[in-house]
Amino acid sequence: MAQIFSRKSNVYARVVMLALVVLPISALAIASAITRSPYNTNVGIPITQPVPFSHEHHVVELGIDCRYCHTYVEKSGNPGLPSTQVCMSCHSQIWTDSPLIAPVRQSWRDNKPIVWNRLNWLPRYVYFAHNVHIAAGISCNDCHGPIQSMMITYKGKAFWMSFCLNCHRQPEKFISPRHDVWKLYRDIERYGNHLEITNGQGQQISPGLTSRESALLEGKYYENQGRDLVIGEQLKRDLHIQSALLTNCSVCHH
Ligand code: HEC
Ligand code: HEC
Ligand code: HEC
Ligand code: HEC
Ligand code: HEC
Repeated sequence: MAQIFSRKSNVYARVVMLALVVLPISALAIASAITRSPYNTNVGIPITQPVPFSHEHHVVELGIDCRYCHTYVEKSGNPGLPSTQVCMSCHSQIWTDSPLIAPVRQSWRDNKPIVWNRLNWLPRYVYFAHNVHIAAGISCNDCHGPIQSMMITYKGKAFWMSFCLNCHRQPEKFISPRHDVWKLYRDIERYGNHLEITNGQGQQISPGLTSRESALLEGKYYENQGRDLVIGEQLKRDLHIQSALLTNCSVCHH
């Protein structure tokens, strides 16, 4: 068959095709180089806030559910921060004279929201949504560290691309039944850091934290093993999670 395109146009086509692949990637790389620095620093460093709000106090000692304050975490991409009204549902009655709460009362009187300093964020060219991750039973602590023991909140983990991909490649090693996300904090409240005792068959002899919960308590990485891995693999099938697709660039960059 006669050649329709000359050799030369073939070369052009290749250059164009290469550019189509390389340009978006290098655009991301440039965007990242420009904006990179602040995103992944400050891990573990508490940041001064207008009010010294303590997750430790409110989550474990008082047992308030994350969803009371981060109302949309299960329903939408963005969890949201609590309005002054949420704080005032208690603080119009408790600690009403405390100087620590003064900015909350001020905000209530002036009808102006408290401006919290943000700790966690991603570069704008990365897409993320909370609800899908919570639905897959991924713990807040997997991504935010030991929130329940923070007196002043700090950034728990750095969101490098490899951090996201490590899980997207093998989600069965991290996912868990959905209610585990909330059970963790109730169990910490109940058992402190005491571990459960099991016999050789993995049956519980005395109650306490599971090894998964114990690792999450400290904000450590925990990869499902044994029974947890069997459950993770089953969930992956039930939720139709396809890890081959989850690592596509377009999942997070679009
Ligand atoms: C009583 C309300 C309340 C509860 C309950 C609560 N939070 Fe918060 N959370 C806040 C407030 C206020 C802030 C902003 C100030 C700060 O960073 O401490 C915040 C900030 C955060 C941040 C950092 C946001 C940022 O700037 O990036 C994370 C992560 C977080 N909360 C996770 C959790 C988790 C997980 C739970 C449940 C275990 C929880 N919170 C329960 C009120 C609450
Ligand atoms: C469900 C009730 C409840 C809600 C909602 C609530 N608090 Fe509290 N808060 C308390 C109680 C109870 C105390 C502690 C009293 C004590 O120490 O015995 C407290 C203590 C505090 C303190 C004192 C410092 C400390 O942690 O010991 C601050 C500051 C504070 N809260 C800020 C807030 C802010 C800001 C919000 C809204 C984001 C909020 N609280 C929402 C019940 C609540
Ligand atoms: C798979 C990882 C992951 C999990 C699980 C996760 N988060 Fe986040 N969270 C993030 C990332 C990434 C950001 C920054 C998002 C951005 O910039 O769009 C963030 C931001 C936040 C913020 C700040 C939002 C704002 O507007 O200031 C809050 C609050 C928060 N997360 C709460 C939670 C709570 C509560 C849970 C558990 C119920 C949770 N997160 C579970 C990764 C996660
Ligand atoms: C611990 C495991 C884990 C981590 C860490 C994680 N993911 Fe995911 N992510 C998942 C799973 C599992 C799904 C698929 C959920 C499903 O399909 O039901 C998912 C789905 C997604 C989706 C698809 C959402 C949709 O609308 O279909 C995006 C986008 C995403 N993740 C972005 C990120 C980013 C960005 C990060 C890092 C900041 C991240 N993820 C970290 C486990 C994780
Ligand atoms: C699970 C989500 C996720 C997937 C899938 C993903 N990325 Fe990323 N990517 C990120 C996050 C998060 C960052 C921001 C990292 C940072 O702030 O340092 C990023 C940053 C980048 C950057 C900027 C340079 C850098 O490394 O920080 C490039 C280039 C990039 N991604 C290319 C790709 C390509 C090409 C693919 C497909 C092979 C891909 N990404 C797939 C989450 C993802």
